[in-house]
Formats: sequence, C-alpha cells, structure tokens
Amino acid sequence: MEIIRLYALLVRRPIESSRGAGVLSDSSMITFKLEDRVFILTGAGVSAESGIPTFRGAGGLWRNYRIEEVASPYAWRRDPRLVWEFYSMRRRVAGAAKPNPAHLALSDLEAQLGDRLFLCTQNVDNLHEQAGSKRIAHMHGELFKSRCDRCSSGPFPDAATYEPPAELPRCACGGIVRPHICWFGEMPYQMDEIFQALDRCTVFIAIGTSGAVEPAASFAARVTRRAKTIYVGPEEPANRGAFADWYLGPAGELLPELFQGAMT
Ligand code: APR
Repeated sequence: MEIIRLYALLVRRPIESSRGAGVLSDSSMITFKLEDRVFILTGAGVSAESGIPTFRGAGGLWRNYRIEEVASPYAWRRDPRLVWEFYSMRRRVAGAAKPNPAHLALSDLEAQLGDRLFLCTQNVDNLHEQAGSKRIAHMHGELFKSRCDRCSSGPFPDAATYEPPAELPRCACGGIVRPHICWFGEMPYQMDEIFQALDRCTVFIAIGTSGAVEPAASFAARVTRRAKTIYVGPEEPANRGAFADWYLGPAGELLPELFQGAMT
C-alpha cells in the first residue's frame, strides 16, 4: 500500500503558452481500440457547468476561507461547527445540481466500454451517479454520506444540514458525526484499486482538474511513459508536462463530441 495523503501542491509551475510541452490536439474525437483500458480522472471542473463552483480560481473562496482552511482534521478539532456550516452549504448547492453533458457523455462512454473504463473522481457530489455512471471511485469521499469521528462504524447516507444554532450530530458512541470526506492530511479512499487501474490503463484522461492536489496530480506522470495521456479543460493544468494531448475548452461542450463514436 502506498502511503499517500491529500496535499495541495505549494508550488505551481507557471503556464507559459497553450502549446508548451504538450500538443494542443486538433482532432475532434478521441477513439479507443478494443484492447484499450481507459482511466478517467475527473475534478471540480466537470461539475462547474452544473453550477457547483470549483475550488481554485474565481469563486474559489468560501467566506474568505480557502478550502484547505475548512477541510482538515485541524479545522475539525478547532471548530467542527464551522466545518459543518461549510459542508451544509455544499450539500445545499450540490443537492440542487443536475448532471451536465459532460457527466452524461461519461456515462455513455461507460455503457460502451463496460469494465474497460475506470472512472475515478475527486468530486464529492453525486452527479456522475445521477447521470447513470455505475462504477465510480470517489477518492475524496461523498458529500451525502457521514461517519463518526471516533468509532469505526462505517459511513451512512446523510443529506441533512447542520448549521448553528443546531447541535452537532452525535454518534451513539458519543463521537461527533463528521462528513465522509477525505480532508487535507488524510488518506484518500480506494487507493489500492485506483493504483491497480492506473497500472493497467493504456489511455489516461484527466478532465477539469487543476493538477494542484496530490495524489491525483501525480497520476498522469505515473502512467505517461506507457499510456496515452490527455487533458480536457479550459485552462492548462499545473501538471501539464505529463500530458501528451490537450483539448482546451469546457468539458460539457467538448466531451459529447470527443467521445462520439469512441470505439474503433
Ligand atoms: N470544464 C472543464 N474544466 C473546467 C471547467 C469546465 N467547464 N471550468 C473550470 N474548469 C477547470 C479549471 O480550469 C481548473 O483547472 O477545473 C479545474 C478546477 O480545479 P480545482 O478547483 O483545483 O479542482 P480539483 O482539481 O478537482 O481539486 C482537487 O482539491 O480542494 C480539493 O478535495 C478538493 O477534490 C478537490 C481537490
């Protein structure tokens, strides 16, 4: 098991030009061969067109807090009410959101590729599920689940909001119920399964993720020598050097076209 935790990269490489180290693809479709195994990594950008704000860039702050300041074990110990206020707001926003054409294109792709597609998301919303995707690795957890911060009882479905003056939710053991989210400094979920899929893939596609948070930021570099690596999003990511091809634009506009007739 590789010991790997959720970290924001402190240093970002500057983005010099849209052609830099990779190739701005001029093909309008991505095609797969029968023997391909496809790993897809999605980030906040995939849900942006559904009205869920991304973490970095414009609109990336909540009441002047950076995500790293309200999503950590330290923040939880210091002020669990503030943390629940933040996640209650996120539950409300995500609860009202509907999947966009990017989510639908990914679910269509799963219908074509079956278990040759591995969908790994950093997103904690349930828009991939709502779009019909069946097999999803939620490496950063799920917004509509909670768990005890003390005992080992597993995560349970929970769409409630807990905002002052409401009391903090409690487990029968006396612990406080916390969001089932991988916070900064914690171990992302399903990593064994994710690394196995990375090591098997022949095509790696990252969509709508800034490449600023580990361990996902290193996935492309891990596979780039033997798999085709592709990025889809409106801006080049911080880890752009690991990608062979880029498709620059909003995922909801690009993916339906890129995956049209994906099987050759
Ligand atoms: N289509 C595709 N990509 C988009 C779109 C869009 N319509 N709009 C914005 N983006 C891109 C931005 O260009 C940016 O590169 O989405 C990316 C969002 O980056 P982040 O906000 O950093 O999100 P992400 O990479 O998913 O963050 C990783 O960090 O805060 C933690 O746990 C949190 O899962 C999150 C992790």
